[in-house]
Amino acid sequence: MLKFRLLLFLAIFMNIVIIGSQWGDEGKGKIVDYLSEKAEITVRFQGGNNAGHTVIIGSDIFKLHHIPSGICQNKICVLGNGVVINLPFLITEIKQLQEKGLSVKDKLFISEKAHIITQKHQDIDKKQEENRSNKVGTTGKGIGPCYTDKVSRFGVRMIDFINNKDLIPEYSQYYDLIKSFIIDTTYFLNKAIREGKNIIFEGAQGTFLDIDHGTYPYVTSSNTISSAACTGSGIAPKHINKVIGILKAYTTRVGNGPFPCELNNDIGEFLVNEGKEFGTTTGRKRRCGWLDLFMANYAVDINGIDYWVITKLDVLNKLEEINVCIGYEYENKKLISYPSLANILENVKPIYKKFNGWKTSLENCKTFKDLPIEAKEYLNFIQEFTNIPIAIVSIGPERNQNIVLKDIWS
Ligand code: GDP
Ligand code: IMO
Ligand code: MG
Repeated sequence: MLKFRLLLFLAIFMNIVIIGSQWGDEGKGKIVDYLSEKAEITVRFQGGNNAGHTVIIGSDIFKLHHIPSGICQNKICVLGNGVVINLPFLITEIKQLQEKGLSVKDKLFISEKAHIITQKHQDIDKKQEENRSNKVGTTGKGIGPCYTDKVSRFGVRMIDFINNKDLIPEYSQYYDLIKSFIIDTTYFLNKAIREGKNIIFEGAQGTFLDIDHGTYPYVTSSNTISSAACTGSGIAPKHINKVIGILKAYTTRVGNGPFPCELNNDIGEFLVNEGKEFGTTTGRKRRCGWLDLFMANYAVDINGIDYWVITKLDVLNKLEEINVCIGYEYENKKLISYPSLANILENVKPIYKKFNGWKTSLENCKTFKDLPIEAKEYLNFIQEFTNIPIAIVSIGPERNQNIVLKDIWS
């Protein structure tokens, strides 16, 4: 037994949580796909089809909403108990993947405890948005109302539907298609951990859309932070070995709510166009602004980030000058912690540090050394200010457009 334990200990296996460190769309999908080459299983643990994760492999573009991005590496994919699922949407997603040569057969497992999003939830979502004064700008996918029913104990879980398909008559036609995917994913994942499998937990949305820690009420209806990987999949905190924060080299936000570093000017428009900043799920134009390291430091605390992955650095290639926010001033005082009131956040004044742009393509940069000096200064400052090392710098949307500073799996 002792020998077996020792062997298990010596073997390199790891469970990694990947989360968005801003307001979503940081490039989680691309990085989960890249890292899942060395994983056996990828898991979604919260959110639903409000998420839109893009993976680009050559001329193939995959836009994933429910299914973890590890599917693009043909890995086992799990939708944990914390996820909310739109059945017809999921079935369409599966079909679209099949058309592109990716089969989920024997690879997709859905928690029997995951809750089902119904048409009623989607209708309520839209009505609530019409009627409320502080419009959130939701994706309209019924996410809030579905989680509301879950917490109010009116929800319908997968297992309830499997036992009685008349609980949601409008979805009874999907019963046969979905039944074979439903299992006890808590048992499945804990067994996989005992067997020493590498698992990636793929966050959806981002830290500042978290229902508790985000910019309430302009947030989503689930916990999006690293600890939600445990509650949303039924694994214990001691099994999480590393937390990776995905940080876009600038900031974006879709929907309403405070955004201290937003750029309502030509540079903001430049970032929209250069970064192709249009929502993966709703097609809405994303609001753009400078990188906010005051936010990043808050994300470090809440998530326990071990490494950064900096994405979309290439989008800044043509800028003369780049600003980074290093603090907020409110009523002439520097804030020490991230404010909880949307009202305050709307009126803070960002304190910026200026950097020179590198004004050249990063296309041929393969290692950190190859980067222009100005880009190195920008990245070094991120590491110093947040006290978190960078593991990967993403310099393009393609799977392999990455500069690797540290092998996350070692
Ligand atoms: P997610 O929701 O965090 O998975 O991010 P999305 O997929 O919604 O949005 C990120 C977008 O940026 C996608 O269109 C990606 O293909 C693209 N992308 C990811 N990383 C990079 C990068 O380093 N450079 C560029 N130019 N695009 C990237
Ligand atoms: P990924 O996983 C960016 C935003 C919506 C809205 C708020 C609440 O692709 O990063 P909801 O429909 O969840 O009730 O909407 O949250 N939002 C996202 N923004 N990326 C996402 O997901 C998002 N999912 C929800 O725009 O402001
Ligand atoms: Mg997205």
